[in-house]
Amino acid sequence: MIDEPLRIGVLASGRGSNLQAVLDATARPGFPARVALVVSDRERAQALERAARAGVPARFISPKDFGDREAYDAAVSAALDTAGVELVCLAGYMRIVGVAFVRRWSGRLMNIHPSLLPAFPGLHPQRQALDHGVKVAGATVHFVDEGVDTGPIILQASVPVLDADTEESLSERILVEEHRLYPEAIRLFAERRLRVSGRRVILEARG
Ligand code: GRF
Repeated sequence: MIDEPLRIGVLASGRGSNLQAVLDATARPGFPARVALVVSDRERAQALERAARAGVPARFISPKDFGDREAYDAAVSAALDTAGVELVCLAGYMRIVGVAFVRRWSGRLMNIHPSLLPAFPGLHPQRQALDHGVKVAGATVHFVDEGVDTGPIILQASVPVLDADTEESLSERILVEEHRLYPEAIRLFAERRLRVSGRRVILEARG
Protein backbone atom coordinates (compact mmCIF):
# COMPACT_ATOMS: atom_id res chain seq x y z
CA MET A 1 0.00 0.00 0.00
CA ILE A 2 1.31 3.45 -0.83
CA ASP A 3 0.93 5.94 2.04
CA GLU A 4 -0.62 9.31 1.35
CA PRO A 5 2.02 12.04 1.56
CA LEU A 6 2.28 13.62 5.00
CA ARG A 7 0.48 16.95 5.16
CA ILE A 8 2.67 19.74 6.44
CA GLY A 9 1.89 23.28 7.48
CA VAL A 10 4.58 25.96 7.21
CA LEU A 11 4.53 29.12 9.32
CA ALA A 12 6.65 31.91 7.87
CA SER A 13 6.92 35.66 8.40
CA GLY A 14 9.27 36.92 5.73
CA ARG A 15 11.38 36.11 2.71
CA GLY A 16 10.44 32.43 2.75
CA SER A 17 13.55 30.93 1.19
CA ASN A 18 13.27 27.91 3.49
CA LEU A 19 9.62 27.58 2.53
CA GLN A 20 10.75 27.63 -1.11
CA ALA A 21 13.25 24.83 -0.45
CA VAL A 22 10.46 22.80 1.14
CA LEU A 23 8.04 23.57 -1.71
CA ASP A 24 10.65 22.53 -4.27
CA ALA A 25 11.52 19.31 -2.44
CA THR A 26 7.92 18.31 -1.79
CA ALA A 27 7.03 18.88 -5.45
CA ARG A 28 9.50 16.17 -6.52
CA PRO A 29 7.91 12.85 -7.43
CA GLY A 30 8.00 10.36 -4.58
CA PHE A 31 8.67 12.89 -1.82
CA PRO A 32 6.69 11.58 1.18
CA ALA A 33 5.21 14.95 2.23
CA ARG A 34 3.50 17.93 0.69
CA VAL A 35 2.68 21.43 1.88
CA ALA A 36 -1.03 21.60 2.76
CA LEU A 37 -1.04 25.16 4.13
CA VAL A 38 1.23 28.17 4.58
CA VAL A 39 0.34 30.63 7.31
CA SER A 40 1.93 34.02 7.80
CA ASP A 41 1.53 36.64 10.51
CA ARG A 42 2.66 39.32 8.03
CA GLU A 43 0.49 40.36 5.14
CA ARG A 44 3.37 41.29 2.87
CA ALA A 45 5.49 38.21 3.54
CA GLN A 46 7.21 37.00 0.40
CA ALA A 47 6.43 33.53 1.72
CA LEU A 48 2.75 34.05 0.84
CA GLU A 49 3.67 34.89 -2.76
CA ARG A 50 5.89 31.84 -2.98
CA ALA A 51 3.03 29.63 -1.78
CA ALA A 52 0.64 31.19 -4.28
CA ARG A 53 3.14 30.66 -7.11
CA ALA A 54 3.43 26.99 -6.11
CA GLY A 55 -0.36 26.63 -6.03
CA VAL A 56 -0.35 25.90 -2.30
CA PRO A 57 -3.09 27.28 -0.01
CA ALA A 58 -1.80 30.24 1.98
CA ARG A 59 -3.35 32.43 4.64
CA PHE A 60 -2.41 35.68 6.30
CA ILE A 61 -3.75 35.59 9.84
CA SER A 62 -3.43 39.04 11.38
CA PRO A 63 -2.23 39.18 14.99
CA LYS A 64 -4.16 42.44 15.27
CA ASP A 65 -7.41 40.51 15.05
CA PHE A 66 -6.71 38.69 18.29
CA GLY A 67 -6.44 39.89 21.86
CA ASP A 68 -3.40 37.92 22.91
CA ARG A 69 -0.89 35.32 21.80
CA GLU A 70 -3.01 32.38 22.99
CA ALA A 71 -5.97 33.50 20.91
CA TYR A 72 -3.77 34.08 17.87
CA ASP A 73 -2.07 30.70 18.23
CA ALA A 74 -5.48 29.02 18.60
CA ALA A 75 -6.61 30.56 15.31
CA VAL A 76 -3.45 29.32 13.60
CA SER A 77 -3.97 25.85 15.09
CA ALA A 78 -7.55 25.82 13.87
CA ALA A 79 -6.44 26.71 10.34
CA LEU A 80 -3.81 23.96 10.43
CA ASP A 81 -6.39 21.46 11.68
CA THR A 82 -8.84 22.40 8.97
CA ALA A 83 -6.12 21.78 6.39
CA GLY A 84 -5.46 18.35 7.92
CA VAL A 85 -1.89 19.26 8.84
CA GLU A 86 0.14 16.53 10.55
CA LEU A 87 3.49 18.30 10.92
CA VAL A 88 4.08 22.01 11.50
CA CYS A 89 7.32 23.59 10.30
CA LEU A 90 8.42 27.01 11.51
CA ALA A 91 10.47 28.63 8.76
CA GLY A 92 11.53 32.15 9.60
CA TYR A 93 8.45 32.60 11.77
CA MET A 94 9.17 35.66 13.84
CA ARG A 95 6.62 35.07 16.60
CA ILE A 96 7.36 32.99 19.64
CA VAL A 97 4.71 30.30 19.78
CA GLY A 98 2.92 29.95 23.12
CA VAL A 99 2.99 26.98 25.47
CA ALA A 100 -0.50 25.79 24.48
CA PHE A 101 0.51 25.71 20.80
CA VAL A 102 3.73 23.84 21.60
CA ARG A 103 1.83 21.28 23.68
CA ARG A 104 -0.88 20.94 21.04
CA TRP A 105 1.70 20.09 18.36
CA SER A 106 4.23 18.38 20.60
CA GLY A 107 6.47 16.01 18.64
CA ARG A 108 4.98 17.38 15.40
CA LEU A 109 6.49 20.87 15.48
CA MET A 110 9.89 21.69 13.95
CA ASN A 111 11.99 24.81 13.65
CA ILE A 112 15.11 25.73 11.73
CA HIS A 113 17.70 27.94 13.35
CA PRO A 114 20.86 29.33 11.73
CA SER A 115 23.36 28.27 14.38
CA LEU A 116 24.81 25.10 15.79
CA LEU A 117 22.50 24.90 18.78
CA PRO A 118 22.77 25.05 21.73
CA ALA A 119 25.16 27.85 20.74
CA PHE A 120 23.56 31.17 19.86
CA PRO A 121 19.83 30.72 20.34
CA GLY A 122 17.44 33.62 19.82
CA LEU A 123 17.89 36.60 17.56
CA HIS A 124 20.81 37.30 15.18
CA PRO A 125 22.65 34.01 15.72
CA GLN A 126 25.03 34.67 12.81
CA ARG A 127 26.05 38.00 14.36
CA GLN A 128 26.41 36.28 17.73
CA ALA A 129 28.70 33.69 16.11
CA LEU A 130 30.89 36.38 14.54
CA ASP A 131 31.01 38.38 17.77
CA HIS A 132 32.06 35.26 19.63
CA GLY A 133 34.83 34.51 17.15
CA VAL A 134 33.85 30.92 16.48
CA LYS A 135 35.54 29.20 13.51
CA VAL A 136 32.63 26.90 12.69
CA ALA A 137 28.97 27.91 12.41
CA GLY A 138 25.95 26.17 10.94
CA ALA A 139 22.28 25.34 11.00
CA THR A 140 20.02 23.19 13.16
CA VAL A 141 16.60 21.64 12.62
CA HIS A 142 14.99 20.76 15.94
CA PHE A 143 11.69 19.82 17.49
CA VAL A 144 10.17 22.75 19.33
CA ASP A 145 9.74 22.55 23.08
CA GLU A 146 8.68 25.23 25.52
CA GLY A 147 12.02 27.05 25.45
CA VAL A 148 13.47 29.26 22.73
CA ASP A 149 15.55 27.11 20.33
CA THR A 150 16.03 24.43 23.01
CA GLY A 151 14.17 21.37 21.68
CA PRO A 152 15.61 17.99 20.64
CA ILE A 153 18.00 18.35 17.71
CA ILE A 154 17.08 16.48 14.52
CA LEU A 155 19.81 17.47 12.05
CA GLN A 156 22.73 19.88 11.97
CA ALA A 157 25.20 21.01 9.33
CA SER A 158 28.33 23.06 9.81
CA VAL A 159 30.03 25.70 7.67
CA PRO A 160 33.40 27.40 8.15
CA VAL A 161 33.55 30.98 9.40
CA LEU A 162 36.01 32.91 7.22
CA ASP A 163 38.11 35.84 8.39
CA ALA A 164 36.49 38.13 5.85
CA ASP A 165 32.93 37.15 6.80
CA THR A 166 30.22 39.69 7.43
CA GLU A 167 26.87 38.81 8.96
CA GLU A 168 25.49 38.70 5.40
CA SER A 169 28.16 36.44 3.92
CA LEU A 170 28.01 34.01 6.84
CA SER A 171 24.19 33.99 6.72
CA GLU A 172 24.28 33.14 3.02
CA ARG A 173 26.67 30.24 3.56
CA ILE A 174 24.50 28.89 6.38
CA LEU A 175 21.34 29.34 4.31
CA VAL A 176 22.63 26.94 1.65
CA GLU A 177 22.78 24.28 4.37
CA GLU A 178 19.36 25.25 5.76
CA HIS A 179 17.78 24.67 2.38
CA ARG A 180 19.24 21.17 2.29
CA LEU A 181 18.53 20.27 5.92
CA TYR A 182 14.87 21.22 6.28
CA PRO A 183 13.53 19.04 3.46
CA GLU A 184 15.73 16.21 4.72
CA ALA A 185 14.32 16.49 8.27
CA ILE A 186 10.78 16.55 6.88
CA ARG A 187 11.50 13.48 4.78
CA LEU A 188 12.83 11.58 7.81
CA PHE A 189 9.77 12.57 9.85
CA ALA A 190 7.41 11.55 7.05
CA GLU A 191 9.18 8.20 6.80
CA ARG A 192 8.65 7.82 10.56
CA ARG A 193 12.38 7.48 11.09
CA LEU A 194 12.73 10.01 13.92
CA ARG A 195 12.35 8.71 17.47
CA VAL A 196 12.72 11.05 20.42
CA SER A 197 14.46 9.51 23.41
CA GLY A 198 14.89 12.05 26.21
CA ARG A 199 16.77 14.96 24.68
CA ARG A 200 18.03 12.90 21.77
CA VAL A 201 16.47 12.25 18.42
CA ILE A 202 17.39 8.77 17.23
CA LEU A 203 17.53 8.23 13.49
CA GLU A 204 16.08 4.84 12.64
CA ALA A 205 17.33 2.84 9.69
CA ARG A 206 15.12 2.74 6.63
CA GLY A 207 12.41 0.10 7.20
C1 GRF B 1 16.48 31.54 8.32
O1 GRF B 1 17.83 31.80 8.50
C2 GRF B 1 15.93 30.69 9.42
O2 GRF B 1 16.85 29.75 9.89
C3 GRF B 1 15.65 31.70 10.49
O3 GRF B 1 15.14 32.82 9.81
C4 GRF B 1 15.63 32.81 8.46
C5 GRF B 1 14.43 32.79 7.59
O4 GRF B 1 14.76 32.88 6.24
N1 GRF B 1 14.79 31.15 11.51
P1 GRF B 1 13.68 32.56 5.13
O5 GRF B 1 12.44 33.41 5.45
O6 GRF B 1 13.37 31.11 5.18
O7 GRF B 1 14.31 32.98 3.84
